[in-house]
Amino acid sequence: MAIERTFSIIKPDATKRNLTGKINAKFEEAGLRIVAQKRIQMTMEQAGQFYAVHKERPFYGELCEFMVSEPVVVQVLEGEGAILKNREVMGATNPADAADGTIRKEFALSVGENSVHGSDAPETAAEEIAFFFSGLEIVG
Ligand code: CMP
Repeated sequence: MAIERTFSIIKPDATKRNLTGKINAKFEEAGLRIVAQKRIQMTMEQAGQFYAVHKERPFYGELCEFMVSEPVVVQVLEGEGAILKNREVMGATNPADAADGTIRKEFALSVGENSVHGSDAPETAAEEIAFFFSGLEIVG
């Protein structure tokens, strides 16, 4: 399988509970390398643009409010089949459906406060990485 890069966010519910290290350990144990990472306070404009695909969904406003409620950690993860691997490590969007050992099963509080975001496809991974990182900030 090819080496890929995917985009990840450690969300406010997790940074607030000091879970950044434990979540990063899950990525690294799965063979994903953190090749870029920064802690940021997302703006409402960034949140709205980043999640624009969900604009018509009833939870859009709540989702954006949540993403600016505390700092987040944005990351680029690299590895073999990184996009799918990261989705496996994260577990299902709703922690009630997430498999044992996944980040969301262990740490997520609800479908909204679900600790992590990960890109769902190569095109979105490329777009999401470019939204938060310049090429110079990614060191593989
Ligand atoms: P994420 O992978 O970041 O992509 C979109 C997010 O919308 C998703 O994770 C959830 O956190 C959030 N989301 C999805 N469904 C709901 C819902 N029913 N209520 C609140 N938030 C939701």
